[in-house]
Amino acid sequence: MQLEVIVLAAGQGTRMKSRIPKVLHSVGGKPMLERVLATVSFLLPARVHVVTSDDDEEIQSRFKQFDIDWVYQEEQLGTGHAVLQALPLLEANSQALVVYGDCPLVKPDTLKRCVAENHGGIALITAVVPDPFGLGRIIRDTTGQVEAIVEQADISPEQCGIDEINTGILSTSAELLGEHLPELNDNNAQGEIYLTDLIAEAVSHGVSVKAVQVDDYRETLGVNDRMQLAKVERVFQQWQAEALMKQGVSIADPSRVDCRGSVTTGLDCVLDINVLLEGDIELGDNVRIGANCVLRNVQIASDTVINENSVIEDTTIGRACSVGPFARIRPGSALDDNVSIGNFVEVKNSRLAGGVKAGHLAYLGDAEIGADTNIGAGAITCNFDGKNKHRTIIGDHVFIGSNSSLIAPLTIESGAAVAAGSSISRNVNSDALVIERADQRNIKGGGTRFRRR
Ligand code: UD1
Ligand code: CA
Repeated sequence: MQLEVIVLAAGQGTRMKSRIPKVLHSVGGKPMLERVLATVSFLLPARVHVVTSDDDEEIQSRFKQFDIDWVYQEEQLGTGHAVLQALPLLEANSQALVVYGDCPLVKPDTLKRCVAENHGGIALITAVVPDPFGLGRIIRDTTGQVEAIVEQADISPEQCGIDEINTGILSTSAELLGEHLPELNDNNAQGEIYLTDLIAEAVSHGVSVKAVQVDDYRETLGVNDRMQLAKVERVFQQWQAEALMKQGVSIADPSRVDCRGSVTTGLDCVLDINVLLEGDIELGDNVRIGANCVLRNVQIASDTVINENSVIEDTTIGRACSVGPFARIRPGSALDDNVSIGNFVEVKNSRLAGGVKAGHLAYLGDAEIGADTNIGAGAITCNFDGKNKHRTIIGDHVFIGSNSSLIAPLTIESGAAVAAGSSISRNVNSDALVIERADQRNIKGGGTRFRRR
């Protein structure tokens, strides 16, 4: 039987107090819905139906990496009503798996277990949780058989103590859904058609319902408000940190590293506190990232150190480099091996060959800098003429004196030296020494006159 997945993702999520649909809020830098869809894809379903209230191509185009059948639910009349919208689209002989778009931490194995366990009836993923308030409770008869699910709003005082909850994940056949779902009504405290009522309805017709408990309830945490969003984010981050440590990364404090993308690492990397990793991050062996660094789409080869408070984006960095503290490396940059970038140095869209040193307070934008060139403190490329950007090309073994302005477009050939404080606007030949500054005048007695002023 082919598997069809129904993802419930309609509604704003009133409790979020947001203009953004709830399932588009991010966990670990990705929309919750994207996380659920990625997990679902591990089951290789024949089709994935996403029930949405946003008939919005802009939103749908964000998920174009997935093959989705979008199902429009005009009014959010409840989770049962949401599944009803997808029902006519299911292949008659298919298995259906229902998942909620606001539970982004669920793991593929849990979904697989759910599909495997329905045995011609219904399988339901449940969890025993420390705080069941607000969730649907699993009602079992004296023999332990599941009888019903009762929502918080409809709960009796005796049922309040039940700590086994409905996660929202269930699997059954399209046939059983077609038989029992249309029978549900909105006769309840919230006036909604609850999917959860399917259980009592099916049980009353002799359908077997199997509850499968997850080992770790955190997988099934849902997001209805921003407190829960933050909680889910923390669980996600803790799992990421644990995964990194298992790969051989030392983390100073796993609760103070955030990873909002994918990270691959070699051995013996060290992440100090408050490191934020975003997008695709690749670290070689023995890479050290200092406290308070932000890295976004960065590749760093082995033995490189990124010192505290550095921000690096869309950049590749070679081996044995030293960057920061307080460095900013902007998109489009590439640092070869043994480059040294010190404090308050900004690099943008520039290529720095092996051994380049820019120790302090420099701006290198749209530049190509040859091997072993030294950039003095306060040196800058003037890459912008008010209208256009221009490139600065500097050869190997060049010495750029402190506080020089390199007015692009400009080429400084290998071996040249630029005296401190020069404004260079014309190309410099190889091995030349160039000075461009007014002659110094030392005026006798001028100090006294100056003070009398
Ligand atoms: C639901 C369950 C509850 C369970 C909890 C687990 C019901 C009635 N209750 O409660 O038993 O313990 O999840 O997290 O199912 N949605 C639609 N259309 C609708 C209504 C909801 O697509 O008309 C989607 C929402 O986008 C959401 C999901 O269904 O992703 C669940 O809806 P929500 O309102 O969050 O249900 P809960 O109150 O959390
Ligand atoms: Ca929910």
